[in-house]
Amino acid sequence: MSPKSSKLPKLAPFSDIDLSRWKDYSDVWTDSLWVIDRRDTSGAHINSYHGNFIPQIPHQLMMRYTKKGDWVLDPFLGSGTTLIECIRMGRNGIGVELNESVADKSKSIIASEPNSFGVTTVTSVGDSSTLPFRDLLDSINVKSVQLAVLHPPYHGIIKFSDNPADLSNAGTVDDFLLQLSRVVSNTMQVLDEGRYMALVIGDKYEKGKWIPLGFYAMQKVMDAGMELKSIVVKNYGETRGKSHQQSLWRYRALQGGYYLFKHEYVFIFRKA
Ligand SMILES: C[S@@+](CC[C@H](N)C(=O)[O-])C[C@H]1O[C@@H](n2cnc3c(N)ncnc32)[C@H](O)[C@@H]1O
Repeated sequence: MSPKSSKLPKLAPFSDIDLSRWKDYSDVWTDSLWVIDRRDTSGAHINSYHGNFIPQIPHQLMMRYTKKGDWVLDPFLGSGTTLIECIRMGRNGIGVELNESVADKSKSIIASEPNSFGVTTVTSVGDSSTLPFRDLLDSINVKSVQLAVLHPPYHGIIKFSDNPADLSNAGTVDDFLLQLSRVVSNTMQVLDEGRYMALVIGDKYEKGKWIPLGFYAMQKVMDAGMELKSIVVKNYGETRGKSHQQSLWRYRALQGGYYLFKHEYVFIFRKA
């Protein structure tokens, strides 16, 4: 091969990254430890929803695993961080949220982001463990999605509503994992082969014991048939608690023989 032809664009099959210029992508992370100092609060990212994730998570995932014009599904829409990032990056987005008032508010926040790429974003109200995503996609004439970003409640750590279908109200960890598995199967129905799913989740404490919720959930996604590609550990931002509350937690940690949560996971899977 001549030196000239080796400079032809060499696109990864699932992103717009030109591998022939791979050294130019210093803004695309490839390490499994994500330490992020500051939340991106620009544009429509107003950070008003307790339990949201930072925009850099869907941003990095879309840079690695989507092309412009692809469709991204977020079955736990919340305040719409993923869909706002879709608009900014020229990806189409579908978000499903159980809580109607949350979905309505998100819809107007998402619409406030300037849509310079002319992409489509769709928000739907429903239970992602039972709402058939195939029908939802059919209703908007979309065949499939090319990336799924799942950011479920971390079981009962934050209670999002009183709705029994809300994963934050699952009675036990097993109930939570069963509901999550249903969302995963539902999502897999519409995800293209060879494309990616990310699960963002943290662990929890229960009765003085560390419950590895993240790893339990990871195993469920693997059991559903997805290939595990990476386990990313991300630092967990400062809680909104006041400093005296944080000192109290530190005291409790010293007393109880445990460590305070300062990380969560971004599990990356590929549909084989
Ligand atoms: C951790 S938050 C997601 C936050 C989102 N990533 C953001 O940045 O705003 C989880 C969301 O899932 C929603 N939820 C809980 N159970 C659900 C279900 N069965 N179907 C759809 N949404 C659900 C909750 O109402 C909550 O808004």
